[in-house]
Amino acid sequence: MNQEQRLNYLEAMGIQVWLPRRSKHDVPDEDYVSTESVIEKPCETIIQEGDRSDKIHTWDNLSTQVRTCTSCVLHKTRIQTVFGIGDEHADWMIIGEAPGAQEDQQGEPFVGRAGLLLNEILFSLGLQRSAVFIANILKCRPPNNRDPLPNEVEACSSYLKQQVELIAPRIILALGRIAAQNLLQTRESIGRLRGRVHYYQSIPVIVIYHPAYLLRSPVEKRKVLQDLILAQQTLGKVSFSENHTNNE
Ligand code: URA
Repeated sequence: MNQEQRLNYLEAMGIQVWLPRRSKHDVPDEDYVSTESVIEKPCETIIQEGDRSDKIHTWDNLSTQVRTCTSCVLHKTRIQTVFGIGDEHADWMIIGEAPGAQEDQQGEPFVGRAGLLLNEILFSLGLQRSAVFIANILKCRPPNNRDPLPNEVEACSSYLKQQVELIAPRIILALGRIAAQNLLQTRESIGRLRGRVHYYQSIPVIVIYHPAYLLRSPVEKRKVLQDLILAQQTLGKVSFSENHTNNE
């Protein structure tokens, strides 16, 4: 998708696009990125060739562990677990909160209305849903879509940690307050967490508003657009520092 198509698409989503005034020779706009967003730790994604079959084996084991998990009370009320979906070698990993009713039924994250909006958000980044990996903090639906309890997050956290290790994405998008707070181990508000770069296992994390919230407050889509630009800038810097290191 070229720039013009993407802008048309964002416009169709109802997002008013403000492009920074810059020529193609300008360096990225550093002012926008807070000091915390400076990349100090390029993510480590070195995969040994011989590790490949081990990784597939580990991935299969992990998915079996999740499917049969009884570590918390949510296993009693779930229809099925929702492991995650997408490219196991994706550069982008998307992390939401927990499955809802439709996800519980279909065994796939973000399949409801929020999922459709997530697809549009990805599309605005030039990404197909199948090109990223989408997972949640929790693999089972909390009854009545209540917030995850700390012991449930704790019981599930090693699954997500292993998924991130195996996928080794170059960037993570955390969707919404619950995903961001649990991933980053903080109680800061989403308003303070968005707009800067955080790290999870040395991988840059950008926090954006949850698509379900955007359905209720479409006016906030503009902030998401800013955060997506930050994510793309961050990914550019990661790629640059990786290339730089490789050429040394
Ligand atoms: N909301 C989430 O956070 N995750 C899903 O999978 C669906 C809705």
